Formats: sequence, C-alpha cells, structure tokens
Amino acid sequence: MIRDEPLVLGIETSCDETGVGIVRGHTLLADAIASSVDQHARFGGVVPEVASRAHLEAMGPTIDRALADAGVKFTDVDAFAVTAGPGLPGALMVGVAAAKAYALSLGKPLYGVNHLAAHVCVDQLEHGPLPKPCVALLVSGGHSSILLVPDVAGEVHSLGSTVDDAAGEAFDKVARVLDLGFPGGPIIDRMAREGDPAAIAFPRGKYKDGTYDFSFSGLKTAVARWVEAKERAGEPVPVSDVAASFQEAVVDVLTQKALKVCKDNDVHDLLIGGGVAANSRLRTLAAERCEAAGVRLRVPRPKLCTDNGAMVAALGSELVASGRAPSDLQLPADSSLPIETITL
Ligand code: KG4
Ligand code: ZN
Repeated sequence: MIRDEPLVLGIETSCDETGVGIVRGHTLLADAIASSVDQHARFGGVVPEVASRAHLEAMGPTIDRALADAGVKFTDVDAFAVTAGPGLPGALMVGVAAAKAYALSLGKPLYGVNHLAAHVCVDQLEHGPLPKPCVALLVSGGHSSILLVPDVAGEVHSLGSTVDDAAGEAFDKVARVLDLGFPGGPIIDRMAREGDPAAIAFPRGKYKDGTYDFSFSGLKTAVARWVEAKERAGEPVPVSDVAASFQEAVVDVLTQKALKVCKDNDVHDLLIGGGVAANSRLRTLAAERCEAAGVRLRVPRPKLCTDNGAMVAALGSELVASGRAPSDLQLPADSSLPIETITL
C-alpha cells in the first residue's frame, strides 16, 4: 500500500447518519450520506432502534453511491475505517459489522476509529495538515468537548466537556419548547437572525469558573420557565428574541472556554467541529474572539461538520500515513469509547 496516498473508505453509523466517505491521502473523493433524521422528527430526538434499522437498509446503497461518486472500484480500496465509538450501541454495530465483512472479504486492513478524533481530522480535507498541537471544540447533538490535540492520529486529551446536555441537545430541547421542530439547531439559527440576542439575559451555564467544563441544562430550564411565564400571563412569546438570546448564551460560553484553553496552553490554533459548528453565530463570534486573541480559527464547511463518512476516512488515512497498526478483526463497537483511545 502507498503509505502517503492511501485510498481509504470510511464508514460512519454512530447516530442517525449512514455516511460513507472515500479519500486518497488528504483528498476527498466521495462523501455519501443517508440520513434517518425524518424518521425521528415526530419523536423529537433520535430513536436508537429506528436508527439501527435505517443504517442496515442504507448501508449497501450508500457504499455503492460513494464508490460511483469517487469513480473507484471496491478492489481499489487500500484500507477501511469505521467509527467504533462513541455512539449508539446498535447503530455502531451495523457499521462495524459491515466494515469487518468488507475488509475480510477483500483482504484489506481495517481501522476502528474514535468518532470525536474523526470530527477533528476531517478539517485536513479542507484546510490541509492540522497544526500540532491545536485545540478542538467539538459540539454536536451527542457530545460537547474541548480537546487538546498534539497529534490527531496518536494523542488527544479532553480538557473540558459538558456536565449534562450536549450543545446540540440544548438547541434541540429549546426548539421543542418553542414548537419549532427537530432538529432544532438549524431552525433556531434561522429564527435568531430576526431576534435580539440581548433581549433576555439567560444564564451563561459556565458551570464552575476555573474549569473548562460547561453546563447547558440550567440554561435550557431557564428558557422553558421564561416561555411558560409568558404563556401563563397570556402574552405572546417573542420566539426570535428567545432563540437569539438562548443561542447567544450557548456560543458565548463555548467560545470563552475554548479560547481560555488556547491561552492557558499557549496554543494558537483552534478548530471547531461537530453539527453545532454549522451555527452561523458561533462561527461569527468565534472568528471575532479568535482574531482579538491572536488565535487562528479553522472550521470545516457545514457538510463536513455534521456526521459523515469522510471524517472517518480522513482519520483512517492519517493512521495509515503515520504507520499505525490496523485493528484486530475482533474489534468491538464501544458506545462509550474514551477520547484518548483514537483507534481500537
Ligand atoms: O454532529 P451531528 O450531525 O450529530 C451528532 O453527532 O450529534 O450534530 C447534530 C446536532 C443537532 O443537535 C443539531 O440541532 C445541531 O447539531 N445543529 C446545529 C446547527 N446545525 C445542526 N446547532 C446549532 N446551529 C446550527 N446551525
Ligand atoms: Zn458527531
């Protein structure tokens, strides 16, 4: 196998997106996605059993689409990579089982990788090699962490994370309170553009000063109480102002904490990834605050921020390039895989 330009196929099934990505080295060739999000909408959140079944149905067609988009054959693939965790156990198992079958039948190496490290690594496809070290703020529906990343293929440390709701989960829950639909992040982002972020002083959810952790459950409850009080008083709820004020509270805390980690560790590169990184206000505020702090900011384009197979292929490619050993074919799906474990 050519170590610096391997053709890697990555499979992602940790939540509700069946993603198959194909890369050659740092070049993205295909990023096929099938999402079951519509099937979860009426429940207001992802239903694990529904997601697992949808992965099973979408796997074959999504693989075929990725190969066609990349213009390559299955037999051209040098290595497979798959999200081994963290994520929903049943959903992960579908991807891991499929990847094992493909790798075994084609006699190619398989890398079981960490979903969070993959969210970081994907930026290499867009902005080139990651600075070593960098700080990564990962914010999505399932996870919210601040990571110190000396080497995305070998060494990642968690310095802070949410102590309760993930950032995206808070967006989704607040959207439910406001009757806006699911997933809530994109809708709140849109509504907030018409609202005043200073209209309501929601709590900042800093958790404890002096730590890099944060908390969103108090903020979510504060929004619910505020809306209930308005409704009880028979007054109209200013939905855009609530959305803008809530969003401001979330992005204020996230950017503050992430930049504090950069400063305390003398790191000058910040990467933001995960579904919430698609948030327009987070992108703007992070850019302003990074500029003021002399920190370079990297944010992948929105399609690479939400869950996808390209990120898994990107990390697989990095592992091949750095000469790491592939996984054993007995590799498990580990729903609570710690971030320090980059490959299983
Ligand atoms: O990374 P992702 O696709 O899946 C998980 O691993 O969770 O992230 C999905 C989350 C959802 O909670 C969704 O509401 C949120 O990302 N999200 C956003 C935006 N787009 C997606 N949150 C805020 N603003 C957005 N524009
Ligand atoms: Zn994710």
